[in-house]
Amino acid sequence: MKVLVATQKPFSAAAVKGIKDIIEAAGHEFALIEKYEGQAQLIEAVADAQALIIRSDKVTAEVIAAAPALKIVVRAGAGFDNVDLSAASAKGIVVMNTPGQNSNAVAELAVAMMIYMARTQFTPATGSEISGKRVGIQAFGNVGRLVGAKAKALGMDLLALDPFLTPEQIKAGGAEPVFSVEELYSRSDYVSVHIPALPSTIKSIGYDLITKMPKGATLVNTARKEVIDEEGLERALEDRPDLKYITDVAPDNYEALREKFGLRIFATPKKMGAQTAEANMNAGLAAARQIVDYFATGNTRFQVNK
Ligand code: 3PG
Repeated sequence: MKVLVATQKPFSAAAVKGIKDIIEAAGHEFALIEKYEGQAQLIEAVADAQALIIRSDKVTAEVIAAAPALKIVVRAGAGFDNVDLSAASAKGIVVMNTPGQNSNAVAELAVAMMIYMARTQFTPATGSEISGKRVGIQAFGNVGRLVGAKAKALGMDLLALDPFLTPEQIKAGGAEPVFSVEELYSRSDYVSVHIPALPSTIKSIGYDLITKMPKGATLVNTARKEVIDEEGLERALEDRPDLKYITDVAPDNYEALREKFGLRIFATPKKMGAQTAEANMNAGLAAARQIVDYFATGNTRFQVNK
């Protein structure tokens, strides 16, 4: 079988070698395209691939139509909003993710972002400390729980909202459960966002929610830019000069927002939450192993389009 790794944002060289070794040791063929410019290159490369490993690369209906031999797509990472699941399902293609494999990297970035904003983006202006402050964790999954553990170790109090967990499960993770998004935002000095981009969550964080945050609060988004209503965010930052926003990755109108709000806003130019040597290795190798296992045994444990 031909396994194509297609990553606009490449894995580390060590992770690529690890993936190649796993694929070839199982008797499959390894192919790689990195830093490709546009969809045309991906469409050309998938023509004879049976398996595909991607990161945030967009696997659209067009890509799937161009890949008649494709049997499995593994998103080396957590969020699979970049894959057209119905187009894949219609062709009987299995889509998987590698949950948890890059979570620590994202959680470390979320905590770093809180400190970066608390310390006025590392300028000499007087900042504040995160110890003793309260962080509200919006979705207490793999990343959210790790953010909680790290924040607690730094002296923060934790609130968490997760509709898929019981209050007991949230308490077991060291956080106080809250039962509405309004309560989470109104009680949190920092809100750390970890919800996926779904039709129900896209643009769900807007003016009303952001302006519920207490004086001096910071919104930290290491999830997806799509979950923020950017127009609402802008109005909230205008009306509440005490609020701050930090995000991985930049909103569409970032340059204008940065000009308007200065050190109250910061955005990474390219999504970097999972961009560590460790996360590349964990997620990349897990993806390769899942493909080898799927071809060998039919294991679909991490399938997301069942
Ligand atoms: C994820 O969903 O796993 C993260 O957003 C990481 O995305 P990336 O692989 O593009 O860095």
